[in-house]
Amino acid sequence: MARTTTKDEIPVYNEEEREGLRRAGRFNAELMDFIRPYVQPGITTGEIDRLVYEYTLDHGHTPACLGYNGYPRSVCTSINEVVCHGIPDNTVLKEGDIVNIDLTTIVEGWYGDQSETFRIGEVSETASRLIQATFEALWVGIRAIKPHGRVFDIGNAIARHARKWRFSVVREYQGHGIGRQFHQEPGIPHYPDPRTKHIRIRPGMCFTIEPMLNQGTWRTVLDRSDGWTVRTKDGGLSAQFEHTILMTESGPEILTLTRHGPQEGHIFWKPE
Ligand code: MF3
Ligand code: CO
Ligand code: CO
Repeated sequence: MARTTTKDEIPVYNEEEREGLRRAGRFNAELMDFIRPYVQPGITTGEIDRLVYEYTLDHGHTPACLGYNGYPRSVCTSINEVVCHGIPDNTVLKEGDIVNIDLTTIVEGWYGDQSETFRIGEVSETASRLIQATFEALWVGIRAIKPHGRVFDIGNAIARHARKWRFSVVREYQGHGIGRQFHQEPGIPHYPDPRTKHIRIRPGMCFTIEPMLNQGTWRTVLDRSDGWTVRTKDGGLSAQFEHTILMTESGPEILTLTRHGPQEGHIFWKPE
């Protein structure tokens, strides 16, 4: 456990610990930059998993997903109506699919966690709109926070944004504190959960924001045959983006920014 905790058991990291978090976020982002060019029509999700596994080990680090609560692979690959935790297998990515790649690594004991949703070739207008709205939702969430601000403000801003687009926000899965553990306090809901109104984001806290937006209903179904794959209840599309964020005295620091990926303001879809 982290040395310093608040009343709510949320770790507050000192400068040395923040450096550990920064190194983990930076490596995880480099891994995303490595994998991005491979996410193309014709590749299987299993091949993506192998590339992630080998790159991570070659750099002396550990895939956090592998073996986590029995999860069998190194990455989550969630295609189309899969909301999250899709397990890589021999499924081939094909033109028109959207796929979320969610990467988490452990670097010298510290975790970094991020995801992006990719378009495979040309996709439907709805798919592009959903990805645009979800990418914006992540940034709206990031821009809603300030030192000593409330966790509530993140979900509130994200839900308002999704409503403008007439997409729904998944409620059963949320962002999370992160550090020497994968998932810890505080939970970061992407909707205005009144239970988060009194939770303050103090400088030194670290957590993810990872909104999942759905084309139709926000309700999800867990695949009981593999125990992991989460799908939309109505079979509509789902998209997600995620970053790991360190709150500092002067504002949020995004630890998992990539060099080559979409930056704040990136356009996936524009109205005609
Ligand atoms: N990376 C996911 C998250 O953002 C968690 C995946 S857990 C796994 O929290 F076991 F499915 F890999
Ligand atoms: Co993740
Ligand atoms: Co996460």
